[in-house]
Amino acid sequence: NRRVRTRELIAAKERGERWPMLTAYDQYTAAIFDEAGIPVLLVGDSAANNVFGYETTLAVTVDELLPLVKAVVRATKRALVVGDLPFGSYEEGPTQALRTAVRFMKEGGCHAVKLEGGRRTAPQIEAITAAGIPVMAHIGFTPQSEHTLGGYRVQGRGDAAEEVIADAHAVADAGAFAVVLEMVPAHVAKRITNEIGVPTVGIGAGPETDAQVLVWQDMAGMRTGKLPRFVKRYADLHGTLRDAAAQFGDEVRGGQFPSSEHSF
Ligand code: KIV
Ligand code: NA
Repeated sequence: NRRVRTRELIAAKERGERWPMLTAYDQYTAAIFDEAGIPVLLVGDSAANNVFGYETTLAVTVDELLPLVKAVVRATKRALVVGDLPFGSYEEGPTQALRTAVRFMKEGGCHAVKLEGGRRTAPQIEAITAAGIPVMAHIGFTPQSEHTLGGYRVQGRGDAAEEVIADAHAVADAGAFAVVLEMVPAHVAKRITNEIGVPTVGIGAGPETDAQVLVWQDMAGMRTGKLPRFVKRYADLHGTLRDAAAQFGDEVRGGQFPSSEHSF
């Protein structure tokens, strides 16, 4: 009953052991993933879409995310909980980034923070890690920059590979303990994984990264409709919950629920 530490994740890379990461935003899912042995949980700014129903990740605020971070930390015993710094909370520079990271650690109680950007956010990563706060970087496709990147598109194809590789080295040199690689070609992710000393966490980055992350609602089939190519569905929670709710509705309408066993 002791938390996973960042140095154990780095040691796992040295041993060639892969590890899984999932998002979590609330008590029950966090406790279930902890029980399932997922060593790292991310309270992602993807809560914008997956919890709050915003159309874009840009909308969610620090004040909205912090209560979710607290819930996930309280509900878990073993997982290292990473809080995702939302758009607008770190771009101004190292001072703003450190101030936000401190709020996540102090008020949220998480064990590390994550932020997006490669070379351009290296100064922020340096400032936060210098304060004793572990930072997970996030490069490749970075959803908070979707308007600059021109939508959800693979980054680092062809000559652009060198850009992503330079970003990976910059964030690792700045002190990041892990680097999320989102939607980059598998061969680029493989090269980065071989070249940097800290774990790479792939999402749409092929099979050669040190770790893999998915949004839990995608992984468990809670979200319906067309899913990104990198998602694999391991359950049909949407169908399971819809059927349970429909059956409850039928039994209430038909007078089968509650029966005497549910009554006082
Ligand atoms: O917010 C999020 O869910 C993420 C992961 C997909 C890496 O940043
Ligand atoms: Na995110």
